[in-house]
Amino acid sequence: MFERLSRQPDDPLLALIGIFKADPRTDKVDLGVGVYRDEAGHSPIFRAVKAAEQRIWASQDSKAYVAPEGDQGFLDLLWTMVGGKASPVHAAGVQTPGGSGALRLAADLIRQAGTGRIWLGLPSWPNHAGIFAAAGLAIETYPYFDVPSQTLLLDGMLEALQRAQPGDAVLLHASCHNPTGAPLGAADWARITDVIATRGLVPLIDSAYQGFGAGFEGDVAGLRALVAAIPEALVAVSCSKSFGLYRERTGALFAVAGTTAAVETARSNLVAIARTSYSMPPDHGSAIVKTILGTPELYDDWRAELESMRQRLASLRRSFAEALGGRWSNSLAIGKQEGMFSLLPLTPAEVMTLREKHGVYMPTSGRINVAGLKLSDVTRVAGLFKAI
Ligand SMILES: Cc1ncc(COP(=O)(O)O)c(C=O)c1O
Repeated sequence: MFERLSRQPDDPLLALIGIFKADPRTDKVDLGVGVYRDEAGHSPIFRAVKAAEQRIWASQDSKAYVAPEGDQGFLDLLWTMVGGKASPVHAAGVQTPGGSGALRLAADLIRQAGTGRIWLGLPSWPNHAGIFAAAGLAIETYPYFDVPSQTLLLDGMLEALQRAQPGDAVLLHASCHNPTGAPLGAADWARITDVIATRGLVPLIDSAYQGFGAGFEGDVAGLRALVAAIPEALVAVSCSKSFGLYRERTGALFAVAGTTAAVETARSNLVAIARTSYSMPPDHGSAIVKTILGTPELYDDWRAELESMRQRLASLRRSFAEALGGRWSNSLAIGKQEGMFSLLPLTPAEVMTLREKHGVYMPTSGRINVAGLKLSDVTRVAGLFKAI
């Protein structure tokens, strides 16, 4: 059987990790891999995570299965964090292996019960298309962002969505758009909500960066307004970035609607899909999140540390955009974008020059992880971008 297989190319972003590691230059800069970095270039464990792990170690007395849908306590606390305390809608959650697991579960449900079509922004996180195609969904695209001018293409997006069929799914990023960092304002969300409501579309909202962009509540404000205004939605939540739990594979998918009966039916189907895929979700990461969200002193400390990361990203962006000067016609927009990523108007040849000549690493798409910069190094690195 294996003889009939052909070798698959390595994921270019994951391959970049190995190439960067092998580079002996001491002033090399990694703007590729999508994890948060501090000023020392380290991807830290939150203090609250360490403290929660100690508590779990001391109190946990069994490793027996939790439940097919995961830990209900975790799901309730996580939905309050994302949907809000006074959420007017009903939500039924299923704990998943990371945000990717949630997206795959959503895709399987859309394939079973929806039109089998999903609309995806151009560009989007590359794994979106991979996950949806693997689940057998047909992918349609809407314009989202113009790279040379660094501007949002909202009119083009709305125009494209007018052509979507009732029941089609639409993927939206809650905040900190990956790869562009282009934020949606409240008025933009209102216009998107309008089209989704009038066309009868089902949004799948991907919330993977709460706390990294406009703020802890601001990053989910558009999501909350949208789900309150339409009959049905799916919300995929990743705890990888907001809690720094990348390798613990922690996340959830929420089915959201106006009645308990509707969301409970959706949940039973999601559990059935999960059962035949990975059976039960991993527990350790969700136990950490539940402990943090349910313990006031850990919660406060976690929020403070998350806020300091957000501030660091914002100030890196401002300094980098200023240091770039007029490198591109709208370089200053990079300072106003949100989260870890920006998509720069670089050619693949320019990306390779930066990598080979200067030890500055990013994928050939030109996406940079701003967190890979150091404040002390911004002027030098911006100078390299200006010189190519
Ligand atoms: C937009 C977006 N969604 C979802 C994910 C999934 O994250 P994970 O599966 O690691 O929780 C990521 C990770 O990079 C992402 O950027």
